[in-house]
Amino acid sequence: MTLSELRSKSKPASRRSGNLGVSGIRVIFEKAQTIPDVIRLEFGEPDFDTPKNIKDAATRAISAGKTKYTSGSGIPELRKAISTKLENENAVFYDPSKEIVVSAGATAGIYISLLATLDPGDEILIPNPGWATYVYSVKLAGASPVLYNLEALNDYSFQRNLVEKLVTSRTKAILINSPSNPMGSVFSRRDIQNVAQFAQDHDLTVLSDEVYEKFLYGDASTSNLEHVSIASLPEMKGRTVTINSFSKTYAMTGWRIGYVAASEQIVDAMVKINTAASSCISTISQFAALEALNGPQDSVKQMIETYKKRRDATVSRLNQIQGFSCPVPRGAFYAFPEISRTGLSSFDLSMKILESAHVATVPGSAFGSQGEAHLRIAYANSLENIELALDRISKVTN
Ligand SMILES: Cc1ncc(COP(=O)(O)O)c(C=O)c1O
Repeated sequence: MTLSELRSKSKPASRRSGNLGVSGIRVIFEKAQTIPDVIRLEFGEPDFDTPKNIKDAATRAISAGKTKYTSGSGIPELRKAISTKLENENAVFYDPSKEIVVSAGATAGIYISLLATLDPGDEILIPNPGWATYVYSVKLAGASPVLYNLEALNDYSFQRNLVEKLVTSRTKAILINSPSNPMGSVFSRRDIQNVAQFAQDHDLTVLSDEVYEKFLYGDASTSNLEHVSIASLPEMKGRTVTINSFSKTYAMTGWRIGYVAASEQIVDAMVKINTAASSCISTISQFAALEALNGPQDSVKQMIETYKKRRDATVSRLNQIQGFSCPVPRGAFYAFPEISRTGLSSFDLSMKILESAHVATVPGSAFGSQGEAHLRIAYANSLENIELALDRISKVTN
């Protein structure tokens, strides 16, 4: 190598970043991009546009010159609106002046929560199957993810005996996600109580990812379907970090806005981290989020009703496909059929469906070992596309 080549040589990326894997969703996503008539059922993103009143609020904010930095915790009006929402809907009061921080979506909300609660080497219990980003974020934060199993045969309920044996002296926290990605399952009040008892017994922090809280599809047989925020249980607020987002509820994925509610000490740490990482969250998105909370909620209701119709169509069609068996998911916008009778691994089946049927799905293995033998099908797509996609899949597998 010449001296000039040596001088201009690119430097390698950090070892820390090298620890990050590539999500199985990305692999399918990249390949799907190359197929012109592909139907996208792999992406966990609402297909709806952001409601007009929210977009208008953002436009008004821009016109009014609300385009400067805000505090690292977010604009006070938004923190107040979040506090009111948490009190009214989630039955837990958080002081807007010191117990709430606005984040760049739940993704960043989870990351700053991890940075604020865990030290390098600490262990956190993460659901398996679970959203793949949890593991990457924990590693990036220098902590160790320890996966706890949620089992299909138990409706993905919290089984304390499966989690108990994973606790070590380094276990500092447990993460829960209900309604869940990828299973669409919902923890009952009893499950949440069991998690609370477990956390108290082992003195753990609970990170509660509640981004799908509105996506609950009750029907006559499931009258007790409700979203329970673990922070609202007695003596749980102080050890809970509640993470939520505007992305799914208000179809605002690209606005990058969410929030975290926690004790004053943890929020103080998160505000410092926010400030160091990005000064603040987009001011325009904060004003849009303010309108999302304070404005009419009819569009949310309509979207949920539409998702329910899509869920019913998706599940009934999936159960007609040879080798598939799909329980009715009670929340989020994912179906998670069991596919072992097809004789293929989840990755091979997902690839076969992508290549032959031009439908993108996610292999369950992308969500942890417990996800194997399943596919994740996001029904955040039009009924027409869902029907067409399932027609195509049944031709490949039948
Ligand atoms: C369980 C779960 N948590 C958090 C997120 C991230 O959402 P946000 O857009 O708010 O970062 C997602 C997105 O798919 C998710 O499925």
